Amino acid sequence: MTTSTESHVRFDPYDVDLIADPYPMFARLREEVPLYYNSEYDFYAVSRFADVNKALVDNATFSSARGAILELIKANLDIPSGMLIFEDPPIHDVHRKLLSRMFTPRKINALEPMIREFCVQSLDPIVGTGHFDFVTDLGAQMPMKTISALLGIPEDDQVFVRDHVNAQLRTEAGKPMDHTKGLSVGDMFEAYIDWRADNPSDDIMTELLNVEFVDDKGVTRRLTREEILVYLNVVAGAGNETTTRLIGWAGKVLAEHPDQRRELAQNPALIPQAIEELLRYEPPAPHISRYVTRDVDIHDQTVPEGSVMMMLIGAACRDSRQFGPDADSFNIHRASRPHLTFSVGAHFCLGAALARLEGRIALEEILKRFPEWEVDMANAKLSPTSTVRGWETMPALVS
Ligand code: HEM
Repeated sequence: MTTSTESHVRFDPYDVDLIADPYPMFARLREEVPLYYNSEYDFYAVSRFADVNKALVDNATFSSARGAILELIKANLDIPSGMLIFEDPPIHDVHRKLLSRMFTPRKINALEPMIREFCVQSLDPIVGTGHFDFVTDLGAQMPMKTISALLGIPEDDQVFVRDHVNAQLRTEAGKPMDHTKGLSVGDMFEAYIDWRADNPSDDIMTELLNVEFVDDKGVTRRLTREEILVYLNVVAGAGNETTTRLIGWAGKVLAEHPDQRRELAQNPALIPQAIEELLRYEPPAPHISRYVTRDVDIHDQTVPEGSVMMMLIGAACRDSRQFGPDADSFNIHRASRPHLTFSVGAHFCLGAALARLEGRIALEEILKRFPEWEVDMANAKLSPTSTVRGWETMPALVS
């Protein structure tokens, strides 16, 4: 095994060509350099399922409190209170508990008819045209409408919200994310919060405005307006583009596996397991990072305190040690084993059930209308972000 410092495998998270198909490189990292070090950007990476799983759970050693994205950790920015994805316990748990009120099974399941209606609105006008873009026609629309409805944001403001949030995450092709604008929570939700404060309803926003809780200093209080704003940004940021990308991947991967797609069209009861396999096979968030709080030994080497550790979820999800010798193939009948697409531990995705529901309904409604399709890869565009991997357009000829 090669030591991480003299690695011959190259993983540049900003190399657009490499990221177009990272899996051969991920396989080499897993097998040849399970603890990888990149001297150009100064980060470590783990890629085996067991290593990624263990590190994600160990939030005392691998902290989120300086951010969970390489560029943000390096920039050492101030993280606004309430940005729970970039916090450690105990304050993380306080904020997560409050936000999890939005994501109870009852609230999520109640969204099903509305999500289906959003899919119908996007898909019905396309029937008969012969053309369908999985991302622009559906993937970029339905998740945003769903989150906005969950929050109670009026439909007129929704496109603005999506574009604003996606622009914050965008990286220029081949370049790191521009963090110079800081983690401004912006003002896009402010008018809505103020309006809702004056016009209480039975929605989650009214609940968040009124809830009393004991904070990490033992003080019983309500959330500040700033904290609620941060919450809204976290939810919109975490739940929009990821789900959009899942739908783009569904278009591509099922086009490449027409037999499995036909099975799904004939037997929609298989769709939930197909969504699970899509999530494993093409994770929309293929890596997340942590700040290393103490010297830690991994594969006989010491990772020093103060380093950045990247968790290669995309590599872990194809590890044959977890998924068997055919881990690199797409198989909707694969025996179900836990994957890491939604992370694990304290930060396990709060929206996982919602993402699964949205994925299932989207695929049901697509297959009802278009049981066959071919993707036009020459015109499909890969999104350039270094944080979320997937398609900005996935045009298809449908029948
Ligand atoms: C396919 C779609 C999705 C994927 C792949 C995904 C992935 C992830 C991942 C990997 C994390 C953990 C980050 C970490 O450990 O640092 C996360 C956290 C989170 N996700 Fe998702 N997500 C998806 C959809 C959603 C949706 C639809 C929502 C809400 C509407 C959502 C809300 C959140 C929130 C609030 C967190 C922070 C949880 C915490 O820090 O405790 N996600 N997501």
